[in-house]
Amino acid sequence: MNDGFLTIDSVTVRYDHYVAISKISTKLALGKFHVIMGPNGGGKTTLIKAIAGLVAYEGRIEMDGLDMKKYLKKHPIGYLAQRGAQFQSFPLTVYQVVEMGRYRFKESRMVRKEHVMRYLQEVKMTSLAKRPISELSGGQQQRVLIARALATESKLMIMDEPLTGMDPRSQSKFYEMIERIKEEHSLTIIMSSHDIGFTTAYAENVFCINKRLVPHSEAAKLLKEPEIRKLYGPNIHLVEHHHLSSGEEEDV
Ligand SMILES: Nc1ncnc2c1ncn2[C@@H]1O[C@H](COP(=O)(O)OP(=O)(O)O)[C@@H](O)[C@H]1O
Ligand SMILES: [Mg+2]
Repeated sequence: MNDGFLTIDSVTVRYDHYVAISKISTKLALGKFHVIMGPNGGGKTTLIKAIAGLVAYEGRIEMDGLDMKKYLKKHPIGYLAQRGAQFQSFPLTVYQVVEMGRYRFKESRMVRKEHVMRYLQEVKMTSLAKRPISELSGGQQQRVLIARALATESKLMIMDEPLTGMDPRSQSKFYEMIERIKEEHSLTIIMSSHDIGFTTAYAENVFCINKRLVPHSEAAKLLKEPEIRKLYGPNIHLVEHHHLSSGEEEDV
């Protein structure tokens, strides 16, 4: 059954006996830009890992009606982990990192090169193609990883707190880039963020988790709205997004 949604149905993840997320249910329309909000420790990374098949969970996750685990066996997804020092001593150039995304395609070196350069172009990194990835700034490395994800031709791109450490101007440019590649490649994008920032201007759906799915009426309080206003001025406003979800009021 193709239903046009990534469906998260009563998903619970435990680390040993500790329940990190509990009975999360929501439906994410394919081809849209979704943001998972929530405080630190709220379970954003855990939910993202469940979607990407990196942690065991109870409940169901389906991509367009197909069990996500089956989907993942057949299709690549773009996954940008929460930023760390992963590239500090990685002996590859920017070009080679993006080229890794093409390994499953049988194509000549020439054709591969055209693809790699086109994806680098999309994230405005062609001029740094020959540089070792370890020498780039965190934000630049992230753009290279986005190019690599695009190179796999996956339809789902998941990014765990990609805005951490970016100033508001860079954040806004980042959102514009995401919006553009989403349209050009018909991607479904799921991104997590622990503050509100510009999210409401760009995301097509925002939902908040703090172990459970948080009703929208409580989300602003949880995310410290006054502090956001101090940072970004009074013109930022929170938009209520109504999404198809069930289980918002469920008890743990
Ligand atoms: N591998 C793990 N083992 C045990 N507890 C974990 C592990 N990963 C995360 N947790 C706990 O699960 C909760 C949710 O964490 P996480 O999903 O990383 O939240 P967020 O990404 O929103 O900050 C936190 O209380 C965290 O300490
Ligand atoms: Mg996290």
